[in-house]
Amino acid sequence: MTGQQILIVDDEARMLRVLEIMLQKMGHDISCASNGMEALQSLQETPVDLVVSDLRMPGMDGIELLNQLRAQGNNVPFIIMTAHGTIQSAVESMKLGACDYILRPFDMEALELSINRILATGRILRQNDFLRRELEKGWEGFIGESPAMHKVYEQIRLVAPNKTTALITGETGTGKELVARAIHRASPRRDKLFVPINCAAIPADMLESELFGYEKGAFTGAHKERIGKFELAHGGTIFLDELAEMPVALQAKLLRVLQENVIERLGSNRSIPIDIRIIAATNRDPQAAIAENRLREDLYYRVNVFSLELPPLRDRKEDIPALIHYFIAEFSKGSSSMPKITEDALSNLQQYAWPGNVRELRNVMERAIVLSGGKQLDMTHFPLGANATKEKAPLQDNLSFDGMSLNCAIETLEAKMIAAALHNTDDNKTKAARLLDISERSLWYKVKKYHLE
Ligand SMILES: Nc1ncnc2c1ncn2[C@@H]1O[C@H](COP(=O)(O)OP(=O)(O)OP(=O)(O)O)[C@@H](O)[C@H]1O
Ligand SMILES: [Mg+2]
Repeated sequence: MTGQQILIVDDEARMLRVLEIMLQKMGHDISCASNGMEALQSLQETPVDLVVSDLRMPGMDGIELLNQLRAQGNNVPFIIMTAHGTIQSAVESMKLGACDYILRPFDMEALELSINRILATGRILRQNDFLRRELEKGWEGFIGESPAMHKVYEQIRLVAPNKTTALITGETGTGKELVARAIHRASPRRDKLFVPINCAAIPADMLESELFGYEKGAFTGAHKERIGKFELAHGGTIFLDELAEMPVALQAKLLRVLQENVIERLGSNRSIPIDIRIIAATNRDPQAAIAENRLREDLYYRVNVFSLELPPLRDRKEDIPALIHYFIAEFSKGSSSMPKITEDALSNLQQYAWPGNVRELRNVMERAIVLSGGKQLDMTHFPLGANATKEKAPLQDNLSFDGMSLNCAIETLEAKMIAAALHNTDDNKTKAARLLDISERSLWYKVKKYHLE
């Protein structure tokens, strides 16, 4: 058991020095205080794994120090050192929550034994605590034990410690933002800000000032200076969601930020150095977005240093029951009872294709719990569309373009994609149009054209 932080408190400078050397030899990091007040102060600034304190000290004695710590809710393990004559007080200190006492004059071996025992139990307790929290919440708030999700967890752990820029891809609702937050939390930047920016939600002409900030008078309406999200995220992480929706000109500017680590506010030519980690996400296929000139290829290569692709829910159906139970618990929090769900409903939900992935499942569960009024959940509470709950026969995928003109091939492919989108959304034209990223009107037109009614 080495490498722990220990604070020694003793008013006798020589004793302090001897202990310091001994404990350092055991491989620990030692800090010292010569009285109770100093110890309290030092603990406030730097928490430690263990306090070893003398009992008799002028001013605040060891028992009072222990008392104050416990009153502050600080449960740091505490060993009290005491001379033979004051054994009664030592017993008193145990009642107050000291973990052990050592009688003076002591041999080093006894102290070492005591320290090792206490640090070991402390570690087990902390581990238990950690494991319990993990079990309750799932890893970093994720639910899912499928191999596909474990691969995601592994990748998060892998990429988190470095400043590496990461690109998260995956269909809508697969958990891209959850992953971005998890990377931040698992990184050394966790104490700094995580600043999310949804490039699709902010009007294109405002995105630049949102990111870079501006000086007073930079443009009409800029009445006073404003710092941008890049500056705000300094030391932390910025999450650029829906990166492919960022105007291409701004993408070029972003690339410069990534290469030079400086920004200039709008209306200023002063370079401000920034230290940020960038995580980007898109639910488009990046290659297709590049082909359509929505995403700059050079930016793509720069952010895609590490890429993480989230699996759609339909490819990890084994996670669906756990997610359902998790959302039931979440949405019935605060009410007296937790609704149960029928086997039938559960298996139906597990078969559904979930085009909107976990987000859709979450919304469906929330609505069902409201509908059921806290009672048992059955299929009537899940209006997923007439045949939505049955696994549909896969569409034929044996298109052959042999001998076709280009136009004819394009139309064949177009018709197939539209049919698939309608199939996956239970003929919901709004959703299908969104999936295909075309207007609803143009979808109606094409449905007629290809007789897909
Ligand atoms: N594995 C998971 N366990 C628990 N909750 C999840 C999981 N994945 C996603 N969620 C939840 O589903 C919802 C959608 O997730 P998130 O916003 O991260 O998806 P997204 O990929 O960013 O979607 P979009 O592309 O639509 O923005 C959130 O409420 C999130 O907490
Ligand atoms: Mg998102």
